Amino acid sequence: MIKMKLAGIDDELRCENGYSPIHNIQSRIKSPESILEKLERKHYLCQKDSLKNLHDIAGLRVVCHYINDIQYISQLLVMHDDIRLIKKMNYIDYPKETGYRSLHLVVEVPIYLKTGKMKLPVEIQMRTIAMDFWASLEHEILYKNQDDVPQEICEELRECADRMALTDLQMQRIYQKVYKKDG
Ligand code: GTP
Ligand code: MG
Repeated sequence: MIKMKLAGIDDELRCENGYSPIHNIQSRIKSPESILEKLERKHYLCQKDSLKNLHDIAGLRVVCHYINDIQYISQLLVMHDDIRLIKKMNYIDYPKETGYRSLHLVVEVPIYLKTGKMKLPVEIQMRTIAMDFWASLEHEILYKNQDDVPQEICEELRECADRMALTDLQMQRIYQKVYKKDG
């Protein structure tokens, strides 16, 4: 449902501006193993309603072309009446220690089951192609030895992330120069 809304926004902006801001959208449902792993890691298992604390069982990753697309699309998305914004984490203006950048939204959407209407939280990660490139490779590199990563590797990865961020800004400026747009 959110995917359709995003496709709609993409179409609208393509008509308006002559280019389509969304590069691709991936969706995933968290596996039962990884739900359990996270409940354990966050010590939610002993709590009542522990699943309510998990907002990322349903997830969407929206990869955009330019940084400015991200804020704009997220604003258009949460304007829809049937989408309620629960949480927003701006790891673009405030990158994580690792260098990770993305805008995270947790939204609640209605889903209609035979037994009635339910609200489903969905985590939407919005990022540029460059941020996605970094996050994918960093995840792959660190996946198997999360606990024991040498400091210098972390620093090098953070450097790469910072460089990607500069490249993102530069690509945005080039685009604006070519199309003579402000902002
Ligand atoms: P998780 O248990 O990892 O889901 O963390 P969280 O729910 O407390 O939220 P957070 O915003 O820290 O991270 C949510 C998601 O963002 C992760 O599942 C990853 O997909 C992504 N993410 C966050 N930090 C990093 C990072 O340093 N590197 C990469 N590659 N991805 C990250
Ligand atoms: Mg998460």
